[in-house]
Amino acid sequence: MKVKLRRYREGKFETHEYELEFEGKPTVLEVLNRIKEELDPSLSFRAMCRASICGTCAVKVNGEHRLACNTRVEGDEVLIEPADGYPPIKDLVVSHESLYEGLRSAKVWFAPREENLKLMPEELRKTSRAWDCILCGICNSVCPPLLEGQDFGGPSLFTKVYTVLEDPRDMRGEERLVELMPLNVQSCVHCSNCNLFCPKGCMPERWITIIEGKLVQKGYIQKKSEDFGFLGF
Ligand code: SF4
Ligand code: SF4
Ligand code: FES
Repeated sequence: MKVKLRRYREGKFETHEYELEFEGKPTVLEVLNRIKEELDPSLSFRAMCRASICGTCAVKVNGEHRLACNTRVEGDEVLIEPADGYPPIKDLVVSHESLYEGLRSAKVWFAPREENLKLMPEELRKTSRAWDCILCGICNSVCPPLLEGQDFGGPSLFTKVYTVLEDPRDMRGEERLVELMPLNVQSCVHCSNCNLFCPKGCMPERWITIIEGKLVQKGYIQKKSEDFGFLGF
């Protein structure tokens, strides 16, 4: 198998090529581990759980953002690159600091009420998909407004916010909505890239639409007028 790695080294990208023999279809992470163990110990990449849980191993595989640990290489050649939309650090490692900073500024942690409320199954069902988020950052890597540098909270942040916003045990409901204003939820163009590429099926665009609806309903933002200019009237 021919493996091409787009590596970030000393301020610029370089593509390095490697040849490896495999039986069957290895995962991208297995390929990276073999290169590091047998051919180039200086290679840097992130991975921990090897089971789609820790969210650290996101890379671009043949042009598509994937988790390295749950993506198998099809064919005899593969191109592996760092994820888009984050500052590169070394080789395939990028900085997720912007993602964590967004979560800190939106205070996405749970603030329990004094009384001991139960979470009913129907309430839990509302947020269970969003709770599956492993913060891999892939949705942000494929989000056009973020890639264009717009001031937008982004799909991963709104997915995390949604889990606490819909939780009746959280005491900061209305306050949270007000705090979401600077995150410009209406910058989402509803392209659904985040839904398509999320490796955990979290459907970020759906929660963004719901959050936008809540902000409109409460009068914090105006409903966006639809742009039908492309129809010519
Ligand atoms: S649907 Fe919205 S949040 Fe998701 S990728 Fe498109 S613009 Fe970004
Ligand atoms: S919503 Fe999906 S793609 Fe986005 S960070 Fe969470 S798990 Fe990753
Ligand atoms: S190594 Fe943990 S998600 Fe891939």
